[in-house]
Formats: sequence, structure tokens, C-alpha cells
Amino acid sequence: THQWRGIIEEYRGRLPVGADTVPVTLREGGTPLVPARVLSEQTGCEVHLKVEGANPTGSFKDRGMTMAITKARADGAQAVICASTGNTSASAAAYAVRAGMVCAVLVPQGKIALGKMGQALVHGSQILQVDGNFDDCLRLARGLSEKYPVALVNSVNPSRIEGQKTAAFEIVDMLGDAPDLHVLPVGNAGNITAYWKGYQEYAADGPATRTPRMWGFQASGSAPIVRGAPVAEPSTIATAIRIGNPASWKPAEQARDESGGAIRAVTDRQILRAYRLLAAQEGVFVEPASAASVAGLLQAAEEGELAPGQRVVCTVTGNGLKDPDWAVAGAPQPITVPVDADTAARQLGLA
Ligand code: F0G
Repeated sequence: THQWRGIIEEYRGRLPVGADTVPVTLREGGTPLVPARVLSEQTGCEVHLKVEGANPTGSFKDRGMTMAITKARADGAQAVICASTGNTSASAAAYAVRAGMVCAVLVPQGKIALGKMGQALVHGSQILQVDGNFDDCLRLARGLSEKYPVALVNSVNPSRIEGQKTAAFEIVDMLGDAPDLHVLPVGNAGNITAYWKGYQEYAADGPATRTPRMWGFQASGSAPIVRGAPVAEPSTIATAIRIGNPASWKPAEQARDESGGAIRAVTDRQILRAYRLLAAQEGVFVEPASAASVAGLLQAAEEGELAPGQRVVCTVTGNGLKDPDWAVAGAPQPITVPVDADTAARQLGLA
């Protein structure tokens, strides 16, 4: 009879919602914090994975979306709009259904994973594929929300950041204090902003005695914050973070600087290596963008920049089922056998 109630009910006192606001929720949050044995061995640190793919629509976006859609409904909005590389749109589409609202999504044509497109479709949202990249989509969505009666639910909406900060609360609640280091992928830079806000609030008047250093990782072909300039034509196989001009650029730099952290780049090759390691050696299937955090941690360890003995949390942001093409690509084809035990046993090396 006791199930996790969703982040608004679990953390109501720390979120900007009225005492009698009824949440629009799918019971998001309360995600597993999984000890990572192999990564701990390889880095000499105590590494944990915050598995955000376990959220209802398969990514961390649900934490922000329950807040944004709850607020939009309370404000009387009847329609919401977002730009997305796929996960935000999947989440907005699902929560709009819960709220009985119309949802419009703008996605970069040909650059979103099939699973995410399927989610937006099956939840009945109105999808426009834009002949441009995510940054173009966000500019369009902002413009439309200023001119027409549709609420913008991208992370430029402060409610989104408020909801997403609860992941930091959960980590401190589980570990008893903040970790030494928090590592996560960076795309539009809302999530690093949100975690830093959560950690700071918990250290100011909550159960934490300190804040972690924040390490963010961008894909090297889409690394505007690392380069210090927008990237006009971002590229990476990690489509979720294929972003050239992040909306939360400044707050992300603030999180980096105030925490004594860093924002760096990892190559697609490093991302795919971490992606395979997570699945094959930790049993955690994530989408490629999510593996950027682990790729970054391994890079730091290899370069001798990771002091051993630290407690580290890596957020893995989205579920591997969203984008299974990369799991299948390059893997050996399964062997076909007749309905015959001897043949099956031989093929499996049992006989
Ligand atoms: N990982 C995944 C799986 C994501 O979908 C995103 C962002 C990020 C990491 C980066 O988070 O933008 O807060 O820095 N996806 C957005 C979307 C852009 O539209 O779904 P961020």
C-alpha cells in the first residue's frame, strides 16, 4: 500500500507549489542509486549510478515535467509546447495526457531516436519535425509561446529546474550526505543547473553538510561550453545532447565554478565505449547521451585527474530502450537453430 508518490508529494515543502495544488504525476522520481562495482574498481573510487531511465517515460525529464505541467494546469493553460531532442517531448506528451492538455512538440528532423518519436506519437502529441537543429526548434518554440496561448515547458521554464533538483535530494537522502563528485552529461544544461540548486539547498538547511564538485560532459562535436562559443552545426551520435547553444549556459558555468568543478568534452568513441561497458559489465542499459557521464569519469581516471577514494555519483539520464540501434549495431547476429536440443546445446557450448 506504500508506493513512492512522485516528487511533488515526496518533496512538497521544498518545491514552489501551493499546499492544496494537486500534482499531475506518473509517480516519477525515487529512482535507483546503484553501486557500480566495475567502475569503482577501474577508478579506485566508490561509484554509484543514479539510474534515471527508471522514470515513467524513461528519462530524468519526468521530474521537471510533473512540476511544469502541474503549474501550467494550475495557471489554466490548455496547451503546452516544447522543443526537444526527444526525451522532453516524450515526457511532455505523457504528462499532457494526464492533465488533459494538448501538447505540441518541435523536434529536429531526422535527429531523434525512434523510441522517443514513438512515445510522442502514441501519447497523441502534435509533432512538427523542423528542418533545423535543436537550437532552431527552441527558438521557434519560444516565439510561439510568446505569441500564442501555449505554455512553454522547456527547461527555460523555472518549474522544470525545480522538479529536476529533487534528484540531488534523493542522492543525499540515500547516501546520508552529498558525494564528493557528481558527474553528468550536459546538453541544454538545465540538469546540471538543477542538481547544483538541489545540492545547495540541501546543504543550506537540509540533511547535507557539504556540496559536491560538479563535472559536466558534452559530446566533443557539440561542446559549446567547453569551447566558449556556440556551435552552429553540432554533431554527435548522442542525439539527446546534440545542442550548440544551451539555454542554461550561464547557470551551468556558475554550477561549475561555484562547486570547483569542470565542464569537459568526450568523443563519440568514448561515449560508445562507456555505453557498452555500462550494459555489458554493470547490467545498466542507458542511451548513448547518458554514457557521457561515465565516459568523462573514465577519461579523468585515465588522465590521473581523479583522486582515488572519492565517493562519486554519475547520473545516467535515459533508458537504453529509447535508442536501441546502437545496441544492435556492430553486435554479432544471433544464430538461428532448429527446434532441437542437441544443436542448441552445441551452439551454446554446453555440449
Ligand atoms: N541526457 C539525456 C538522455 C537527455 O535527453 C538530455 C537532454 C541530457 C542528457 C542533457 O540534459 O539538456 O539538461 O543538459 N535532453 C533534452 C531533450 C535537450 O529535449 O530531451 P540537459
